[in-house]
Amino acid sequence: MCGIVGYAGKNRAVPYLLEGLEKLEYRGYDSAGIAVAEGGTLRVTKTRGRISNLEALIAAEHQSPATVGIGHTRWATHGKPNDVNAHPHRSMSGRFCVVHNGIIENYLQLKAALQAEGYVFVSETDTEVIAHLLDKSWDGDFVSTVRKTAAQLEGAYAICVLCSDCPDQIVCTRWGSPLVLGVCESGTFIGSDVTAILRHTNDVYYLDGHETALVDAHGAVFFGKDGAAVDKQPRRIEWNLSAAQKGGYEHFMLKEIMEQPKAFSDTVSPRITADGTIAFEDFRLTDDEICRLRRVAVVACGSAYHAGAVGKYVLEKLTRLPVEIDIASEFRYRDPVLDEDTLVVVISQSGETADTLAALRLANERGCKTLCIVNVVSSSIANEGGSVIYTHAGPEIAVATTKAYSAQAAVFYLLAGYLAEKRGLLTKEQLAAYTEDLRAMPDLIQKTLGDCEQQIKTLSQMFIPLEHAYFIGRNLDYACAMEASLKMKEISYIHSEAYAAGELKHGTISLIEKGTLVVALAAYSDVFQKTLSNIKEVKARGARVLAVSTERHVDALGEVDYRILIPDCNPLFSVTLEVLPMQLLGYYTARARGCDIDKPRNLAKSVTVE
Ligand code: F6R
Repeated sequence: MCGIVGYAGKNRAVPYLLEGLEKLEYRGYDSAGIAVAEGGTLRVTKTRGRISNLEALIAAEHQSPATVGIGHTRWATHGKPNDVNAHPHRSMSGRFCVVHNGIIENYLQLKAALQAEGYVFVSETDTEVIAHLLDKSWDGDFVSTVRKTAAQLEGAYAICVLCSDCPDQIVCTRWGSPLVLGVCESGTFIGSDVTAILRHTNDVYYLDGHETALVDAHGAVFFGKDGAAVDKQPRRIEWNLSAAQKGGYEHFMLKEIMEQPKAFSDTVSPRITADGTIAFEDFRLTDDEICRLRRVAVVACGSAYHAGAVGKYVLEKLTRLPVEIDIASEFRYRDPVLDEDTLVVVISQSGETADTLAALRLANERGCKTLCIVNVVSSSIANEGGSVIYTHAGPEIAVATTKAYSAQAAVFYLLAGYLAEKRGLLTKEQLAAYTEDLRAMPDLIQKTLGDCEQQIKTLSQMFIPLEHAYFIGRNLDYACAMEASLKMKEISYIHSEAYAAGELKHGTISLIEKGTLVVALAAYSDVFQKTLSNIKEVKARGARVLAVSTERHVDALGEVDYRILIPDCNPLFSVTLEVLPMQLLGYYTARARGCDIDKPRNLAKSVTVE
């Protein structure tokens, strides 16, 4: 996740900017840069890689005496992690430098309009449109220019701007991405989160959405959405640095669970056009090739494989293409039958998983069309795929994935709608209704998380002493059962199994005895009645059943021992809500068992060996 720092004060800015950037390193980044105001000139220093690279560059290039500056750590979303795409970005006239967190959803339209007027872009980023828009909006008033620019942006942004005409000042504003300010004896500090500021002050101003701040060495003046001055009071932060890095949450995993509304929205919203159709940035299959596809093979490992299982059901339902799903380590050694009319979709958060990369290489060698769903921009898998759709989940720090998994499922929803429309199975109107439902999901994810957290904390108590747990479901609910079971076992170390509910009676039901805990995923309406029969079967053998279902099925759940209700939504998307209480269940059970949640034993975040 990108990080922003800013400083205007009595002392040299560079050491403060570097120190702030180091405090933001935990967020993950692939390049870093600063801009300082040296009189009427804005000096930019930026580079790919670690902050130590930036420090070396600054040491070699200059010892700037500037007392005002902005800085950034970039986690690539638009364009490769390289020197040019690193922030700050400069406007064409050189009057402005800007750093930005978030995603500008209308950047392609803005870029085209600016290019038509002669603005030349040097980077692949969405941020550069902001720099040129500042030039275009310049009216001699720094604050008004930033406000006019921000008014043209759609999506999420936190921006900090330097202007060569106002070298003592920084202007910042935000919508959707946070910004905080702290004022103390040595000057005014800006950060995308409090960790960048905490060493200097615990009293911080949180910028509200659409508010703008004019910052100098003496403090900040705030303006509301309408441009009128706002009187803000600082808030005292009692967190230490480690708590602040986790946003006040006890673990990164919980923080990342709670970030899912944003991860889903950042992944989906930029791909839905104003008329409700779907567009991808780096999708290289022609319409003709899409129509000629005869099947899809989905390949991944672990939770990414489970997201692929969601993808299988949704793709088959909407595109009527046969979809196989395979674990990458199996796929690569089974001499799979592949041809040029097969679309091989590989999924990987890290983009570096050895087996998934090998599977992709095999598919490329066999002449298949390949598509990669990846979170880390310019990772090995992203670089070698025929097409790439990035999940915009931001860096994931907890080893057990949560928000990247949800973003992967979100990409499958987009992909299925996109392919179905191209193959003539959805009209434009049907696709618009589908994407409308998809757009509603981030709010429903937020609501589900808010509604069920306390209940899950209580329910997790009964999992603490367990040695075994069973998760059952059918179709999409089975895909969720697999992920729910993995979440439980990998962080709480309770042995758990996921079964297709209809398969139980072919052997596994013999393990069910009085008191066995069975979690029944029963949200998907198409098979609800069938899953209900399986619930009755295990209940009849003495199992205690915790069912997860939607509000529309509440009346039918009379027989279960415990139930978690999620909001009604498009039935294809219910799995996205259903998995949330399951992530929380794994989390709170592991927490109560005293496990090392963010770094479970024997596991690594990125599995780069076979
Ligand atoms: C489980 C988990 C792993 C990963 C798997 C694939 O919580 O995180 O199962 O999903 O190792 O990793 P990526 O997606 O990086 O290829």
